[in-house]
Parts: sequence; C-alpha cells; structure tokens
Amino acid sequence: MNSKPPVPRHIAIVMDGNGRWAKARHRPRSFGHDAGRKAVREVVEGCLRHGVEALTLFAFSSENWQRPQAEVGALMTLFLRALDKETDELHAQGVRLRFIGDLDRFEAPLRERMLAAMQRTAGNHKLQLNIAVNYGGRWDIVQAARQAAQAIARGELRAEDMDEATLGRFISLGDLPPLDLFIRTGGEYRLSNFLLWQAAYAELHFTDTLWPDFDQTCLRRAIDDFGHRERRYGRTGEQIATGHQG
Ligand code: FPP
Repeated sequence: MNSKPPVPRHIAIVMDGNGRWAKARHRPRSFGHDAGRKAVREVVEGCLRHGVEALTLFAFSSENWQRPQAEVGALMTLFLRALDKETDELHAQGVRLRFIGDLDRFEAPLRERMLAAMQRTAGNHKLQLNIAVNYGGRWDIVQAARQAAQAIARGELRAEDMDEATLGRFISLGDLPPLDLFIRTGGEYRLSNFLLWQAAYAELHFTDTLWPDFDQTCLRRAIDDFGHRERRYGRTGEQIATGHQG
C-alpha cells in the first residue's frame, strides 16, 4: 500500500530573521518586517493549498516591547496596516483570524481592529490563522491557571478534578487540533517562550532561511520533513510499526 505522508493539522512558526535580512540590504529593520508581511501571505496561501487546519504565527512577544521605540512603533503601524489591508481577502478565503496574547497592552485603535477582525471572521472554517501578539508561553500557562482557580472559587470546578485536559481547555487555542509542527526560521535553535504547553509533542523544524525569504517551497519542505517523522508519543518504534501496544 502506498499511503500519502501525513500533513500537519496545526503549524506554528517563529518568524525570525527580518532584521538580518534588512541589514544585509543596508535598510532599516522595519524594511525587513514589511518584507516579512509578504512571507506571511505566502505561507497562508501554502497552508490553504495543503489543507493545513491551523497556522499560529509569533508576531510580537511579551519581550519585544524592549526593542527600540522606533522599531516597536513601526511594527504597530505595520500590524494596523496589515489588518486593514488583509482582513477582507482573508475573510473571502474562509480564514478565521484570531489574536492570542495579552491584548490589553495595545493602544485602543489597534486593539479594536483586532477584535473587529476576530468577530468578522469568526464563522470561517477553511484555515484558523492565529497571530500571537504580546504573547509568552509562560504567560499563557499562568492565565490558564488563573482562570482555573477562578472557576474553582466559583464552585464550577473541584481542585481534585484538575488534570491536563481540564487545564488544557483554558490554554490559548485549546479548542484547535494539537500543534503538530513547530517551525523556526533564521538559524536559531530556541523555542523563545512560544507555545510552551502546546508544543509538548510537536515536531521541530529549524531552518537557516531568514523569514522574508521563507516561501511556499520552504513550507513544502517543512511539511515533507514532518511527513517522514516517526511520532512515538513515548512508545517504541516497534510498537508503532506493528500497530499494537505489546
Ligand atoms: C523577528 O525578526 C520578527 C519579529 C519580531 C516580527 C515579526 C513580524 C512580522 C513578520 C511582520 C508581519 C506580521 C504580521 C502578522 C502582519 P527579528 O527582527 O528578530 O530578526 P533578526 O533576528 O534578524 O534581528
């Protein structure tokens, strides 16, 4: 039997390398972020084409506020512009847009645009596109623990019933397929506090390609790489090959 290699249902990407890409061209870092926006479009198209169900992108970490004010400002303007420009097309393509992270820190115009885009696309099912902004994996676990504690205080949950599945429902994207493939561009081998809980059984794919150069061929390569991994979830290779537990 010649079965097709599996396609990941949920892909996450740390889009690294915009600054170096711009520097190599003697341009400001914001030029690299703008080129990065085009790569986001490419990857969304690729995911739609391959039938990937969810794509989660790390656009702005909780630590990125520490960058020079001019760069943070340029990124905020870029996000606003991208939202205004892309939401119509994403909606027409059946993409559901969601922002994860602590949105309260953003200024009202951007926050309101994010909420409006989420509401507008909430009924779409072709691809779940999640943009992590002011996000950190540890923040996510803490906010889930806080919600669970509040549910316990209200008497809706008992502390002794808390388990992974229960806490997992409070973690961002807990309603989506589990994360299958975690990609990082730009040649670093770190998770950088992205989706720590969700990445527990994800396959990792690192590439030296800088994010603005990441195109559909690069995505295809990562998906093919995933398709040939043996996912064991703690079992032995032999158990997987024979399809039973013994
Ligand atoms: C990391 O590269 C990239 C970011 C901090 C920003 C990511 C933002 C985009 C790709 C813009 C478009 C996104 C959306 C969702 C519209 P870096 O600046 O750390 O690069 P370096 O490691 O080369 O310095």
